[in-house]
Amino acid sequence: MEKLNGKKINTAVFISGRGSNLNSLIKYNKKKNSIFSILLVVCDNPNARGIIYAKRSKIKIYVTNFKNKNLSEKKILKKMLKYKIKLICLAGFMKILSKSFIKNFKNPILNIHPSLLPKYKGLNTHKRIIQNKEKYSGSTVHIVSSKLDSGKIILQKRIKVSKLDNEKTLEKKILKLEHRLYFKAIEKFLINP
Ligand code: GRF
Repeated sequence: MEKLNGKKINTAVFISGRGSNLNSLIKYNKKKNSIFSILLVVCDNPNARGIIYAKRSKIKIYVTNFKNKNLSEKKILKKMLKYKIKLICLAGFMKILSKSFIKNFKNPILNIHPSLLPKYKGLNTHKRIIQNKEKYSGSTVHIVSSKLDSGKIILQKRIKVSKLDNEKTLEKKILKLEHRLYFKAIEKFLINP
């Protein structure tokens, strides 16, 4: 990991859809004392709602559709070099990056996952948590490794699941939590990797 030396870490955020976590990271970014700077948003879907947040803040957007994964990843790596990106933050990015991408990027990649990892890896976490009548859920920021949702955990926050919760209400609660968690986890990681 690059040393901070008073400089902000060049960061790219990868999204696929709604982009509410991207929005919260952009808000953090606008603070004077933020320690990373979002230079690029990468997206695999030209219709992703989240693109609007990047546009509003005049952050560059790169869209590539992943129909040819190998080619898309190569193009993304080129962009990472062009913008001297030292940190990638996945925020609702629905494509699984290949081992070769992770290896060739050479810098850390973080992800936010809406469960208390290592429990509930993969998709539909809220649905499964409600079905299994779990008492707690939460969100985890972790380092991306070649195994899905399995890299080292940086920060995790827990909330109570109420008996009245359904998939939608739980998702809403967890998103709210995530919007406070992601930038804190990135700060923690950059200051004390
Ligand atoms: C979040 O719950 C995140 O944990 C998961 O996907 C969701 C993305 O939401 N990886 P948004 O696009 O940031 O609103």
